[in-house]
Amino acid sequence: MNNTLQDENDPLSAYRDQFHIPKGVIYLDGNSLGAMVKTAPERVRHAVEQEWANDLISSWNKAGWWELPQSLGAKIAPLVGAATDSVIVTDSTTINLYKALHAALALRPDRNVILAEKDNFPTDLYISEGVMAGRENMQRRLIGERAKGLEEALKDDVAVVLLSHVDYCTGALLDMQAITQKVQAAGAIMVWDLCHSAGVVPMSLDDCNVDFAVGCTYKYLNGGPGSPAFIYANKAHHDYIEQPLTGWWAHAEPFAFKQEFEVGKGLRAFLCGTQGILSMTALDAALDVFKDVNIKAIREKSVALTSLFENLTLEQCHGFGIGVFSEKEATKRGSQISLTHENAYEIMQALIDRGVIGDFRQPNILRFGFSPLYVSFDDVRNAAQILLDILTTGAWQEARFSKRNAVT
Ligand SMILES: Cc1ncc(COP(=O)(O)O)c(C=O)c1O
Repeated sequence: MNNTLQDENDPLSAYRDQFHIPKGVIYLDGNSLGAMVKTAPERVRHAVEQEWANDLISSWNKAGWWELPQSLGAKIAPLVGAATDSVIVTDSTTINLYKALHAALALRPDRNVILAEKDNFPTDLYISEGVMAGRENMQRRLIGERAKGLEEALKDDVAVVLLSHVDYCTGALLDMQAITQKVQAAGAIMVWDLCHSAGVVPMSLDDCNVDFAVGCTYKYLNGGPGSPAFIYANKAHHDYIEQPLTGWWAHAEPFAFKQEFEVGKGLRAFLCGTQGILSMTALDAALDVFKDVNIKAIREKSVALTSLFENLTLEQCHGFGIGVFSEKEATKRGSQISLTHENAYEIMQALIDRGVIGDFRQPNILRFGFSPLYVSFDDVRNAAQILLDILTTGAWQEARFSKRNAVT
């Protein structure tokens, strides 16, 4: 047995204890909603019972509520290889994409094409439609999965390229440095969606000279359901951020209550209105777990976990109609494995019934995310064994597993 695949030799194994993992659950859905850090309830309780209930409005100053977008951004910055003042936490990924695309277009007023990947997470596509609708004469050009066709599509009319660092479905990990260089050499602005890589894939936004990036915090950063997203801007753009959601939090002097908008310094320009402080408080607790973690160690374990799961399923589930949809080479994928099966939905429901939680994606994908801070190698072995059992016994055929829920 390969020693690196044993929990007793795992340098990250102690982190598991910082998370609440329900008894009997193998949680392989941290790429959708990360597990709760044990400190979150107490931190949120304190924010409710002390900061809100007793300290009331003084908490905007006294408890640092007003500064949370910046202080949380500073905690995320080292995880994405950015200067502390180049990341700010605010709003949702979708809203931040809207802002980032507009900011990018403002930097290339003489160009009119948004280049995006046709299989990207739908919100990226929908919001780029919304951005086009709000500007004159815009067009969108779509390229294939894994950025296939990027070079041919990168003509001198392209203002901005929007891509996901890790694809939500295939898990394909793109080469941030090479693509950013290519895009910028063609005179366009690069916007990365980091939802499926932040907190699990090492990266350096600054070193790659990325223009803008957005990402969510409720997946591998474990911020909790609907926790606010982050947005990054390259230092070179800090003084030139233009986005249409010009709310009072972005004002240079919010408490001067002036009638005219005047943009604040740096990433403040990306703020809009009042933030969800309780949600930010839970995120603050979650980010503290990353304080001493080496992101490279996370990546090493992530590669080992996904490889183990892929090998076990390929070996054991051969002949049951299971296929592998995710990127085959471990170093070219994020921290997920996507399998295919004609009855993927039913099989996933049967797995969840047995405590193995992943999710289903259309049309036939069983998606499993591996969050190295709390998923163990034993979890992976047990999950593969339970999958085999469900396939062998045909347990997934029970009628109750075909009932479709709103969230899959
Ligand atoms: C790549 C990607 N972008 C954006 C989002 C969603 O953004 P929001 O938090 O605004 O719903 C997701 C959600 O899963 C995603 O996978």
